[in-house]
Order: sequence, then C-alpha cells, then structure tokens
Amino acid sequence: MSRTSSATKLFSSLLIQSKHGHRLLPSSPASFAGVRNWSASATPPAKEENPSNKPVVSYWGVAPTKLAKEDGSAWKWNCFRPWESYKPDLSIDVKKHHKADTLMDKGAYWTVQTLKFPTYLFFQRRHMCHAMLLETVAAVPGMVGGMLLHCKSLRRFEQSGGWIKALLEEAENERMHLMTFIELAKPKWYERALVFAVQGVFFNAYFLAYLASPKLAHRIVGYLEEEAVNSYTEFLRDLDNGSFENVPAPAIAIDYWRMPPDSTLRDVVMVIRADEAHHRDLNHYASDIQCQGLELKDSPAPLGYH
Ligand SMILES: [Fe+2]
Ligand SMILES: [Fe+2]
Repeated sequence: MSRTSSATKLFSSLLIQSKHGHRLLPSSPASFAGVRNWSASATPPAKEENPSNKPVVSYWGVAPTKLAKEDGSAWKWNCFRPWESYKPDLSIDVKKHHKADTLMDKGAYWTVQTLKFPTYLFFQRRHMCHAMLLETVAAVPGMVGGMLLHCKSLRRFEQSGGWIKALLEEAENERMHLMTFIELAKPKWYERALVFAVQGVFFNAYFLAYLASPKLAHRIVGYLEEEAVNSYTEFLRDLDNGSFENVPAPAIAIDYWRMPPDSTLRDVVMVIRADEAHHRDLNHYASDIQCQGLELKDSPAPLGYH
C-alpha cells in the first residue's frame, strides 16, 4: 500500500470524539502521514485571524487542525475551541453577598464602592459600553494572580493546588465576555484611550496589591464581581422593560456558551451574569482560605466550571 493511501485510510478512521461531543478532524490525510513531513498542506487559519487568507507555509508540523461542530459544520473560531465551550450554571445565586466584618473586608468593600461611583456616573444606563469597558478591567486580576502563583510555584518547587489554572481560566472567560461585547458595540477612540490608561494603572496596582496581600486582592475581586453581577442585573432590567433593544445573540456567544441558535442578547447577559457570580464565589473563597491561615495550595481550586 502506498504511503498516501494508507494515510487516507487512517484519516477516514480517525474521527476523534472530544469530551463535549465535538469532532476533531485532521486537516488533511498528510497530517497523519508523519508530523515531521506535514507542511505545505497545512490548513490556513480562518479568515477572521488571517485577513490575507494566505496559506501558512511551514515545515514545523504545528499547523492547526480542522474542527467540526456537533452538527458537522465547520468550527469557525480560532480564538477558542469546542472543548472550551460550556453551559453555565444559571441556577447560581446572583444575590449572594459577603458581609464585610473584618477591617480588611471593610477596606476591600469600600475600595470597590469608591471605584464603582465614577463608573456609574460616567456610563449611567449605557449598558453595552459599560459592560465592554468593565470586561477589559475584569480580565486583568485572574491573569495577574495566575502569573504570580505560577512564579511562586516555580520558586518554591511546589504545587499550586490547581489555583494557577483556575485564575487563568477566569481571565480567559472574562476576555471571552469582551470578545462577545465587541461583536455588538464598537468602542470609540476615546473609550480605547480610556481602556489604555485604566489598564496601565489597574494592572500595576493589582500586581502590587497581590504581592502585598493576596487575601485582600482576592477579596477586592470578590466585591468587584458582586458589582459586576449587580450591573448585569440592571442591564437585564432595562432589556425587560424595553429601554434596551433585545437584539439577536452574536454567533461567537452561541458557540461559546452552547446556546440555541435563536438566542438573544438577554440570554447572553444571563450567562455572563452567571459567570460573574462564579468568579465572585471563587475569589471570596480564595480570600477565605487565606484568612484562615492556610495557603491556596492547601485547598483544591474549584476547577471544571468552564
Ligand atoms: Fe466578565
Ligand atoms: Fe467576572
């Protein structure tokens, strides 16, 4: 049997079923003919991330695979893969609040209340704009915390208890909220400038806060997430009373949260609010662990939500 025909046979027999039921299709028979030999037939990245749509020529054997959805249609997103999509837990309690009893908790709570005031004043009922800019900030703490725990794990030659992954998952999830909102609203130049400045300040401030006191940093994020839940509740209220148009959900949201094709913006806000409630619980829990004199690695991280 020639090399090509044996590779083709192998190709047709290998439809890999992922844990969420999505099929992973090899890009071409050549991809199974030997990774090192697979080069020019590599699948070009999707149009969205390669505007020129020119095929990438490389002999390094790392070209992307073609993916398919459950219905057999092609997977069109390069920014996330089918196994990263999930159904959020909509039954999560969206009214939960951590009572600030200690001095540290009160400090964290009032820090968030102080930060909240100018943003509510600035955005008022412009929910889409508010949500979009909120997400650019919300995606920072998980990345900073995850990065610092990663470095700590390397420095101390010790496990992290899954917390590095949990925090990086949170950051990625927040970034996907942002990717969803930019399908619905395009930021103006001054909003981009605001994000640029806020990120410069917030990243460094949170980095220093996490170095000084991780339990305080997580408590602040816990309260920030409580406010995120509240602002999405306001968004839902205005969608329900008709003061905000309930447009169809963007395609990226339908695939990321495995929503029905006829989903609307209201459905999107519902799932994002559930995500924020999960982030709230995770960060308050991370702070509670450390307030009890333990380290994060002593208690397994709540992984597997996404
Ligand atoms: Fe978010
Ligand atoms: Fe969040």
